[in-house]
Amino acid sequence: MADDVVIGQVTVSTIVRGPIQKGFLSYWVASRFQGQGHASRAVGLALRVMTEDLGLNRAEAHTQMENLSSHRVLRSNGFTPWGIASAHIYINGSWRDEVFWERRLSDASPG
Ligand SMILES: CC(C)(COP(=O)(O)OP(=O)(O)OC[C@H]1O[C@@H](n2cnc3c(N)ncnc32)[C@H](O)[C@@H]1OP(=O)(O)O)[C@@H](O)C(=O)NCCC(=O)NCCS
Repeated sequence: MADDVVIGQVTVSTIVRGPIQKGFLSYWVASRFQGQGHASRAVGLALRVMTEDLGLNRAEAHTQMENLSSHRVLRSNGFTPWGIASAHIYINGSWRDEVFWERRLSDASPG
């Protein structure tokens, strides 16, 4: 939200419980509001919810290879890249590789 207007979204999905305890993070910010730190702050808040409220051990995210601002959003929130999945997403008429990212959240035992 910025001045009571919805300018983007962060989604926590694909939550796996049991011995895995992980969630998948995705996000977007409307183009005219980009470059103002909104995604970085929103991802930071979502990670707090994933840790403190959901009790997850691990967050994961995927980015396109050339999406440097998204790489920056993840790196500034403590994510590290752990691999490249070939032909992982079909966009604009072709299959594209994606970077897979991870961040540890908590050492707590599964509840
Ligand atoms: C990726 C996206 C969410 C970033 O949102 P944002 O609000 O502009 O991000 P922020 O302002 O928090 O941070 C952007 C960072 O990327 C950097 N950046 C922007 N363009 C860049 C570029 N071309 N190369 C490298 N870094 C870049 C900014 O300097 C900033 O870094 P900093 O924190 O060190 O200053 C937004 O561009 C978007 O919605 N894109 C379309 C959907 C999308 O790609 N979602 C992510 C799917 S994985």
